[in-house]
Amino acid sequence: MSIKLLISEVQIQERIHEIAKEIVKKYKNEKELTLVTVLQGGKHFSEELVKEIEKISDVFIENFSLQVSSYGNGTESSGHIEVVQNLNGDITGKNVIIIEDIIDSGFTLKFLKKYLQTEKQAHQVEIAVLLNKPNRRKFDVEIDFVGFEIPDEFVVGCGLDFEGKHRELRYVGVINA
Ligand code: IMP
Ligand code: MG
Repeated sequence: MSIKLLISEVQIQERIHEIAKEIVKKYKNEKELTLVTVLQGGKHFSEELVKEIEKISDVFIENFSLQVSSYGNGTESSGHIEVVQNLNGDITGKNVIIIEDIIDSGFTLKFLKKYLQTEKQAHQVEIAVLLNKPNRRKFDVEIDFVGFEIPDEFVVGCGLDFEGKHRELRYVGVINA
């Protein structure tokens, strides 16, 4: 199995720096920044994003997380979604940003946005993804911050895994190319 480079570590770092600037600008009047990181895939993006935000702003950052499962071990969504690790904080009445690795069909993020609004009583929910596969979208969901648009190929690295592997790569690559 080989992995072909799609987006380099430097490109990713630079883009995350730009997204940090966009977020700081948009949220400059908030007294704190509340992130909800989607585990496990969103962890890398979230950590890098927090580092970049901290370089340019002294805003107080709350970084909560939760874990959902929608994919089995394959490369297609199972069409069924479950919260397997509950949100570890109270976001009632808050403006939050979901931090996720990738939007593919849109199923996960559509579910999560509604879940945080209705079940967790967030006031406003925005979405930041490192990667977007626009050609795969089946569920319409507005994305507020996007790292890169990528073609319809299965990628790994920067939090994204294939059967639990390759999450730790610092670049994004296409598997089995
Ligand atoms: P969606 O619900 O179809 O938008 O899928 C979102 C989830 O599918 C992401 O959180 C990833 O866990 C997973 N996923 C989608 N595409 C890829 C990929 O190319 N590589 C690894 N995981 C992916
Ligand atoms: Mg995921």
